Amino acid sequence: MRTNILHIGAGELTYEIRNIVNVGNKLQSLGVQVNWENIGDPVAKGEEIPGWMKDIVADAVQQSATYGYSPTKGVLSTREFIARETNAMGGAQITAEDIIFFNGLGDAISKVFGFLKRTARVIVPTPSYTTHSSAEAAHAGDQPVTYILDPNHFWYPDLEDIENHIKYNPAVAGILVINPDNPTGAVYPAEVMRSIVEICEKNDLFIICDEVYQNITYNGTVAAPLCTVIGDKVPALCMRGTSKEMPWPGGRCGWIEVYNGHRDPMFETYVNSILNAKMLEVCSTTLPQVVLPQIKSHPEYQVYLDERIRRYERFSNLAYDILKDTKGLLVNRTNGAFYMSAAFEDGLLTHQQTLPIANDEVRKTVEALVDGPDVSPDKRFVYYLLASTGVCVVPLSSFATELQGFRITLLEQDEKEFVKIFTTISKTIDQYLAS
Ligand SMILES: Cc1ncc(COP(=O)(O)O)c(C=O)c1O
Repeated sequence: MRTNILHIGAGELTYEIRNIVNVGNKLQSLGVQVNWENIGDPVAKGEEIPGWMKDIVADAVQQSATYGYSPTKGVLSTREFIARETNAMGGAQITAEDIIFFNGLGDAISKVFGFLKRTARVIVPTPSYTTHSSAEAAHAGDQPVTYILDPNHFWYPDLEDIENHIKYNPAVAGILVINPDNPTGAVYPAEVMRSIVEICEKNDLFIICDEVYQNITYNGTVAAPLCTVIGDKVPALCMRGTSKEMPWPGGRCGWIEVYNGHRDPMFETYVNSILNAKMLEVCSTTLPQVVLPQIKSHPEYQVYLDERIRRYERFSNLAYDILKDTKGLLVNRTNGAFYMSAAFEDGLLTHQQTLPIANDEVRKTVEALVDGPDVSPDKRFVYYLLASTGVCVVPLSSFATELQGFRITLLEQDEKEFVKIFTTISKTIDQYLAS
């Protein structure tokens, strides 16, 4: 190329959650039977969408209006419905005008970070859901600025670490919180959320809060919604969607709610720039927005969600009980969303450990993949686990963290299979560490 065509942030865009699928597919083509425990799609893992939900969508498909564009911010009656739901929580009060729809939160995330001034940084958690950390890093053309989620303290945010970063890095303009969290499965109570709001108020920062798993909590926990703790001073963007809860990830439907949007003229202009970016695309997909109020207010909606939550709760405890005594592994019980992150104790993983792989071609493929000093030790572990047992998980170091470990989902539906997978992982770790 006669001129450099690479965006300054091009190197920051990685998504190992999907990259690992290429490796899994390759090994599958060589005969490995893969258990896909890497991707957070309940539907792909066998979640049956209830008939009443399909009927609502089928009826909507019969109406010509659902094939048309919608207003840029989203279907008005749906935004009014959402505003009523948020206001009923008794915290921040919003109107339909404070809501903007996107084609999934992925779209919202790329615009929210993409339209932030390049030198302004949003501090993101480590480990971090990569769509956020990569989009933030790409906007700045630099490594993400991170705060610690502490595996020794339920994966809660390390508030002191947040304060230190803010104090010593004047470029930090905002804090990202994901509650419940991906990849850790942690649920932050109201005190933690209030402390983060206080830090923002004290330092004149804004908050981005991803609440896509808001209503998926268990083991007696509640993820305090940002609207209930935000107060009336700190400007904030709260992200929600239909992907995980409905679940309808293929519907590509999510939205942001703006709290205290008029408190700061610069924040107001920033939100307008996000809206203008959406306007250039005209609007987000109409159909999921049209059916959202009907689905969410259906008498079976909560019943169906509760049923899923009970299964996640049961499986979170099964997983924790199997992995908690695995030597060298640090785990916390998952309390929300449907992920579990396990970290190896420092220094336990090496660049030499292996697992037996019967098929020569599979073994050679893995050896080629892990060859070289740049392959992180947990990626090596994950590739060997995959090749040796067929269990596909994601290396923890792919989530913008120095920690070595893996993230696994709790989405497998068959309890026997689920227990078998976790038992296999536990045994395989013993074998790998002893190799
Ligand atoms: C924390 C979090 N936010 C957002 C998303 C993406 O949501 P969407 O399907 O609406 O793009 C995910 C998907 O896994 C997620 O885990």
